[in-house]
Amino acid sequence: MILTPVQIREISGLVKKPVSVGVPLSRYTSFRIGGPADLVVEPKSSDELRSLLCYVSEGKIPYLVLGAGTNVLFLDEGFRGVVIRMSQMGRFEIQENRKEPAKVTVGAGVPLQFVVGGMARLGWKGTEALCGIPGSFGGAIATNAGASGLWIGQLLSQVKMMSIAGQELILERENLEYCYRHMELPPNNVVLEGTLILNRGDPESIQADLEKARTARRRTQPIGRLSAGCVFKNPSEDRPAGAIIDRLGFKGETVGDAQVSDLHANFIINRGRATAAQVMELIERIRAKVKDQEGIDLELELRMVGAPTKA
Ligand code: EPU
Repeated sequence: MILTPVQIREISGLVKKPVSVGVPLSRYTSFRIGGPADLVVEPKSSDELRSLLCYVSEGKIPYLVLGAGTNVLFLDEGFRGVVIRMSQMGRFEIQENRKEPAKVTVGAGVPLQFVVGGMARLGWKGTEALCGIPGSFGGAIATNAGASGLWIGQLLSQVKMMSIAGQELILERENLEYCYRHMELPPNNVVLEGTLILNRGDPESIQADLEKARTARRRTQPIGRLSAGCVFKNPSEDRPAGAIIDRLGFKGETVGDAQVSDLHANFIINRGRATAAQVMELIERIRAKVKDQEGIDLELELRMVGAPTKA
């Protein structure tokens, strides 16, 4: 613990929701892995977030912003500092004007699948390909999440951010730069919300597209198992990491309770009690063999927090 009791009391005073002291981060990740964080706080408004960011930056307190924790591996040692969970930042506002596309503004903490499902039900077309991608809307923006050839960057008209000094910044569509699994955002800024532009569509065909995407995902990915999604980025479009790892015979390989999925080799599953150390050992084994046999340096898609990463 690096925080003093006074700091914990002061931080508690900045937010309405009670803070959590020393809770395991495994509770906040889809992998269910990770040791304790000194403090977890969940701001409910931009004002609360601003106060928190100013407090940690002025006090030079290590902090980390967390979305839904679906693409992250926390160390077994946990995190010394303040984890700011964006889960309560839940703005959801649709601006529509008969003949024009709708503008849908969504807070960073809203689950991406809530947006995808909601838009489909209301007959707004565009997000179907994002069906089944876990995580929060803010996390999806920060990582330019995508599937089946669509990235969220392509649907955004603007992104609102907040700097650690508490200043808001709006990035308009023409200034957004993104590529595969990457969104170019100014450093030391937190995504507050994003605005999507969506056209009207036929609700029935949108629902049919969603169902198709769900079925494909269930067939090819270990849905329902504890994981953090794909572990590595694809080195290129014609060389998917999953196919390379599969060919090298890793499916089913285990280190303790960490296991390479039998269904999709770019997923590591936590069979129950996997530790971060076990996942990291499996990752290193895969990387070493892929480098040795294929001459490729696999880059992590999974974000490791607190570990010296090579990606
Ligand atoms: N393949 C294998 N063995 C495997 C896995 C895949 O041979 O164990 C082959 C497949 O048969 C296919 C090719 O590799 O020919 C590509 O596989 P897939 O269609 O499953 O797509 P992917 O490139 O592995 C990407 C994203 C996924 C996303 C899917 C669907 C990356 C790293 N992964 O997977 O994203 O859901 O496309 O659009 O870009 C994630 O980001 O966490 C994630 C799961």
